[in-house]
Amino acid sequence: MAVTGGILVLFLLMHMIGNLKIFLGAEDFNHYAHWLRTVGEPAVPRRTVLTVTEIVLGLAVVLHIWSAVSLGRRAHEARPVKYQAKKKSHAQGYAIHTMRYGGVTILLYIIWHLLDLTFFVVNPKGGDATPYERMVADFDPSRWFITVWYVVAILLVGLHLHHGVWSAFQTLGLRTPRSERALRGLAVAVAAVVTAGFISVPVSITAGWVS
Ligand code: HEM
Repeated sequence: MAVTGGILVLFLLMHMIGNLKIFLGAEDFNHYAHWLRTVGEPAVPRRTVLTVTEIVLGLAVVLHIWSAVSLGRRAHEARPVKYQAKKKSHAQGYAIHTMRYGGVTILLYIIWHLLDLTFFVVNPKGGDATPYERMVADFDPSRWFITVWYVVAILLVGLHLHHGVWSAFQTLGLRTPRSERALRGLAVAVAAVVTAGFISVPVSITAGWVS
């Protein structure tokens, strides 16, 4: 979980930074989208780096879900009968719900998001427009409900990230009484930066600050 989660966190950070190019204007954003497809040329053919990235990402998502399901199953097999004396703490219950139902919602969001901005099936502009035009049309004020859907999904990504980064620190054995405060702060900071960065884009378009 920690290794595939780490790959996904890196992707999210890079993706979020890339999206912020929308604030530099149409030319810069379209140039960035073009670069994603041509990076590595002429050493390797067009889209090679992008395709390898997509394969690694796809595998990371599948293995991340597979690890989550098998860990959950192992925990259940180890103790099929619920504890009588000590109920799960509020925090444990919250974390399990956030990760499980949040994870499923994020998966549905990714499917929508790919249909929207990678395959253009549900995008109002479709495949003939520029990447900038597709983004601006997607989050047009008249389509505020799409912005709300993105914001809700990104907030879930943020919660998932917060708990996931913290769990990864524990898995890697970094948690000690001395480091706990700093690591908890780092988990909050990573989640907050990614969430705020992602949310700023659709919200700015819907508010009319980017057009
Ligand atoms: C408001 C937030 C977001 C915006 C505006 C946005 C925008 C985009 C755009 C424009 C693309 C197409 C890139 C291209 O090929 O030119 C894309 C691809 C993608 N996005 Fe996002 N994204 C957002 C949030 C997210 C989040 C939170 C996730 C994951 C949980 C995510 C996962 C992906 C994936 C997996 C791809 C496909 C990458 C590929 O084709 O290699 N995005 N996004």
